[in-house]
Amino acid sequence: MSKTILITGAGSGIGKATAIHFQKQGWNVIATMRSPEKENELKELENVHSEKLDVLDLESIHVAIQNGIKKFGKIDTLLNNAGYGAYGPLESFPRENIIKQFNTNVIGLMDVTKAIIPHFRANKDGVIVNISSIGGQMTFALGSLYHGTKFAVEGISESLHYEMKEIGVKVKVVEPGFIATDFGGRSFDFQSGNIEDYQLIINALMKQWQNPNNTVSPPSLVAEVIYNSVTDGTNQLRYRAGDDADYLLDARKKMTDTEFFEMMNSQMEK
Ligand SMILES: NC(=O)c1ccc[n+]([C@@H]2O[C@H](COP(=O)([O-])OP(=O)(O)OC[C@H]3O[C@@H](n4cnc5c(N)ncnc54)[C@H](OP(=O)(O)O)[C@@H]3O)[C@@H](O)[C@H]2O)c1
Repeated sequence: MSKTILITGAGSGIGKATAIHFQKQGWNVIATMRSPEKENELKELENVHSEKLDVLDLESIHVAIQNGIKKFGKIDTLLNNAGYGAYGPLESFPRENIIKQFNTNVIGLMDVTKAIIPHFRANKDGVIVNISSIGGQMTFALGSLYHGTKFAVEGISESLHYEMKEIGVKVKVVEPGFIATDFGGRSFDFQSGNIEDYQLIINALMKQWQNPNNTVSPPSLVAEVIYNSVTDGTNQLRYRAGDDADYLLDARKKMTDTEFFEMMNSQMEK
C-alpha cells in the first residue's frame, strides 16, 4: 500500500517541489495550503489531494488532517514546511508582526504536530519533518525574529525526538541554505523602520545576500533531502540542504563565536 505525506504550505516553493517529488516516488500526497483554489499544477497529479489549511487556524488543521485520513486511510509523514521570514531591526517591528512571525513559524508548527500525534501514536509509526534553515543554527544580521523562530524549531524538534521515540515516531529537521523560491519576495516581511542609525547595516546585509558568489539551490534539491530523511531508515535528526548550508554550518561548528562573527562581519562591507 502506498504511503501518505501531509505537507503544509504546499502551494509554492519547497512545499510544492516536495509534493511533486513524493508523488513521483509513488506516495499519496495531502497538499495543504491557504488558498487551494489558486493552485492548478498539483491538482492535475494522480494521488495528490488538496486541502485548505492555515497554520494559524486550528479548525482548518483538524479538518485537513481528518479529510486526509478519510481520503487515503492513514498518514505516514508530516512535513511542517509553512513559514516566512521577518527581517529588520527589532525596534522597527510592530508587536503584531512579531506575534505573527512566531505564531506562524513556531506555534503553527506545534499545533499541526500536536494535532497529528494521536494518529501516529495509534499507528505506532510516523515521521515528522520540520523545515528549519541554516538560520536555525546560525544567524544573519537583522534576523532576530526569523532566526528566533528557526532556533525554536530546532529546540522543539530535538527535544520532541526523545518522546516520539517512545511511540515509534521519528523526528527529522531539514536545514536548507539559500533556495530559489518566493521566500525573498512574497514570503518576506522586511521592516526597515526608516531609522537612519540602521541604514548602514541594512545596506551591508543586502550586499551580503546579493553577492553573486552565493550558492542558491533549487527547491527540488530540498525535496530530495526531505525524501531521503523520511526513507533512510535511520534515527538521524538533522539534514542539510545545499552546498552553502554545508559550508556555513561547518564553519559555525569549527569556529569560535568570535571567529565566526568576524567572518560574517567581513562579508558585510559597510
Ligand atoms: N527559500 C529559502 O531560502 C529558505 C531557506 C531556509 C528555509 N526556508 C524555509 O522553507 C519553508 C518554505 O519556504 P519557501 O522557501 O518554499 O518559500 P515560499 O515559496 O514563499 O513558501 C512559503 C509557504 O508557506 C506558506 N504559508 C505562510 N504562512 C502560512 C500559514 N499561516 N498557513 C499555511 N501556509 C502558510 C505560504 O502560503 P501562501 O502561498 O498562502 O502564502 C507558502 O506556500 C519556510 O519554512 C522557510 O522558512 C526557506
